Amino acid sequence: MSSSPLLQMNALRVGLPLDGAVRTVVHGADISIPEGAGVALVGESGSGKSLTARSVLGLLPRSARIQGDLLFAGESIPAMKPERLRRFRASDVAMVFQDPRAHMNPARTIGDFLLEGLTTARGVPVAEAITKVTGILREVGIADAERRMRQRPQELSGGLLQRVMIAAALAAEPRLLLADEPTTALDVTTQEEVMAVIAEAREARGLAMLFITHDLELAAAVCDRVVVMYAGMTVEELPADRLRSGAAHPYTRALLASRPAVDDADAELRSIAGRPLSGFEAPDGCAFADRCPRVQDLCRSDRPQPGSTGDGTVACHFPHSFSPEEAGSHA
Ligand SMILES: Nc1ncnc2c1ncn2[C@@H]1O[C@H](COP(=O)(O)OP(=O)(O)OP(=O)(O)O)[C@@H](O)[C@H]1O
Ligand SMILES: [Mg+2]
Repeated sequence: MSSSPLLQMNALRVGLPLDGAVRTVVHGADISIPEGAGVALVGESGSGKSLTARSVLGLLPRSARIQGDLLFAGESIPAMKPERLRRFRASDVAMVFQDPRAHMNPARTIGDFLLEGLTTARGVPVAEAITKVTGILREVGIADAERRMRQRPQELSGGLLQRVMIAAALAAEPRLLLADEPTTALDVTTQEEVMAVIAEAREARGLAMLFITHDLELAAAVCDRVVVMYAGMTVEELPADRLRSGAAHPYTRALLASRPAVDDADAELRSIAGRPLSGFEAPDGCAFADRCPRVQDLCRSDRPQPGSTGDGTVACHFPHSFSPEEAGSHA
């Protein structure tokens, strides 16, 4: 734990210009990813997950205002000069998106898509690039790689296309993979296969990952640590294996409770009462106050700041606490 993490985000704020004003959509994101580790970022729609990931890639609009620390292996991403940012995107970090089709040109072949980054951004000779890409396609479960490379995106299923996206990401030999809801658009069986492909590729390469999802249980299953985001702020961070037993933020607990038990076929699909807020709508106090069963006056006036829980952090004035016995057993 002595060397600096691969990715370090401290009190990150992101403001986007809108109608002549600046809309703060992320205000207080704290995420740390050690080399090789998997960290999940979970939260409802509009909470700022994708913007947080895009800020890591330096993919925000030019006019975006970024404050706080955003460091890759100790180097500030917002301070990168254009040439360094280009190399950073081509070889240090890669992103897999929810909808691969939206990120591929329908007029070009899968082969063009896969080879482009290697041959243009990295200067790898074409023959070498083809060998490399074919090998990676096999690794992600595409056996007839040569035939697939001649096809166009519309000839492939969503699951196959997502494997192609993953192959493209891996071809860059990044140290950090950003996966923004990579399986949300797929059916359940395909989701599981794609998650397995990602897990195997990470294992083989010691690849770190920021995994964005709505699904807390999936997050905990594939990552080492879980970060929960609400209205543009990270409100809890904890080890994945402590999610069920150690979640201290009422929002994290509400998210867990809103997921029907797998073994209970009659379970009513409960959702958290009230509407999720986006960062720019967050009030002065705690953004979760209006939906929180534990709310008190203090929550409406003072925004809680992150504090240590021992093995994680929570930003809440009245977090769930655990008996010394429970806490002790996990110390
Ligand atoms: N270019 C933009 N300009 C202004 N506001 C934006 C822009 N992009 C996103 N937003 C707003 O920022 C907030 C966070 O968006 P973001 O896409 O990061 O949410 P998310 O957590 O990824 O949601 P989802 O789960 O639906 O993907 C939203 O309220 C969104 O409307
Ligand atoms: Mg998103």
